[in-house]
Amino acid sequence: MDILLPYLHTVILAAIVLFSCYLLKRSKSSKTKLAPQAGGAWPIIGHLPLLAGAELPHIRLGALANKYGPIFTIRIGMYPALVVSSWELAKELFTTNDAIVSSRPKLTGAKILGYNFANFGFSPYGEFWRGMRKITASELLSNRRLEQLKHVRTSEVEVSVKDLYKLWYSKDKNEATQVMVELKQWVGDINLNVILRMIAGKRYYGAGVVTDENEARRCQRAMREFFHLTGLFVLRDAAPFLGWLDWGGHEKAMKKNAEELDSIVDQWLEEHRRKKDSAGESANKEEDFMDVLLYALDGINLAGYDADTVRKATSLSLIGQHFELLPFGAGRRACPGMNFGLQMSHLVLASFLQAFEVSPLSNATIDMTATAGLTSSKATPLEVLIKPRLPASVYE
Ligand code: HEM
Repeated sequence: MDILLPYLHTVILAAIVLFSCYLLKRSKSSKTKLAPQAGGAWPIIGHLPLLAGAELPHIRLGALANKYGPIFTIRIGMYPALVVSSWELAKELFTTNDAIVSSRPKLTGAKILGYNFANFGFSPYGEFWRGMRKITASELLSNRRLEQLKHVRTSEVEVSVKDLYKLWYSKDKNEATQVMVELKQWVGDINLNVILRMIAGKRYYGAGVVTDENEARRCQRAMREFFHLTGLFVLRDAAPFLGWLDWGGHEKAMKKNAEELDSIVDQWLEEHRRKKDSAGESANKEEDFMDVLLYALDGINLAGYDADTVRKATSLSLIGQHFELLPFGAGRRACPGMNFGLQMSHLVLASFLQAFEVSPLSNATIDMTATAGLTSSKATPLEVLIKPRLPASVYE
């Protein structure tokens, strides 16, 4: 399970720098007071080494903010970028100037991994994004739909709590004994099960799973890789004329991952189409998001994309978000899954704490080292000791 750092605002703000800078570049007014540019830019590649180094970008940008103040520019290759890191400026950007920061740059990762920007989380601001965002908010992540699919969340969390109890029970039946469990994977599996059941009607992990183990592992690997790759800086985005070098081999890896994900989602879409055809219109079945997407695109301007591409891209864009502890963004691009995310976080944490007494393995502080990517995950496992808090009958 990814556990996000609380600094994510910085990352998000950094992510919008590319198009903010686009505006800066277009601004013709010579009277405009410009933000200071951070020192240390290289010819051609600018500050790219800063962002591509071992240290995570938000840590680097935070250090620069300490030096240059809450607003400064850097150069990502040929493009100037604005970095903002105070809540006052963030508020101004996401309210008064929200229209200006609501687009997204056409980055290589979003093109290769986001079906040529048909994944609306990566789409530039415009009619296509507006239409898809509306469908997502009203049909997929609405309170009504979340209520309808509430049993998916509750049953997955219940089963997962019972799995932990069974593990404790199998090790030792002595009530005073604690067993060690790894929570990162545990929470990650719950989230993936819930989200895949809601989107594609699939359940991949734990007891009672009907899906082929290989398919599950393949899917999980491809998702992890997706998160990692979409957060990487690609040389082409900084210096398009050097794109052919594919420095670091990121574009090659992205193409491979895109093919893998497409073959998985394509299979789901076909299964849903077959199910729809065989069940007929009158079937009174529970709808997952893919079922809804089979009929909900009517009347939407698809900006030239074919409808199945949009269905696959939208499914991936929803899977793309786990339930980490991070802010939800703000303004018109703010997270449409906020209610869902909060409900899941509360339910999982409350169920776990109600069911078990928890203690750390040692007195050492928890290792909060993070990984780079679209979201920033805890790099190491989260191992804790647990023992049941409630009578055995509650877990049966
Ligand atoms: C704790 C849970 C979650 C957190 C903290 C979170 C956070 C975020 C953040 C920070 C953004 C970027 C906002 C921006 O660009 O300004 C975002 C966008 C998005 N999130 Fe979430 N998210 C969560 C759960 C979810 C879930 C469960 C879903 C869907 C099932 C989801 C779907 C999306 C989508 C589609 C976007 C792109 C929106 C757009 O570009 O218009 N999120 N989320």
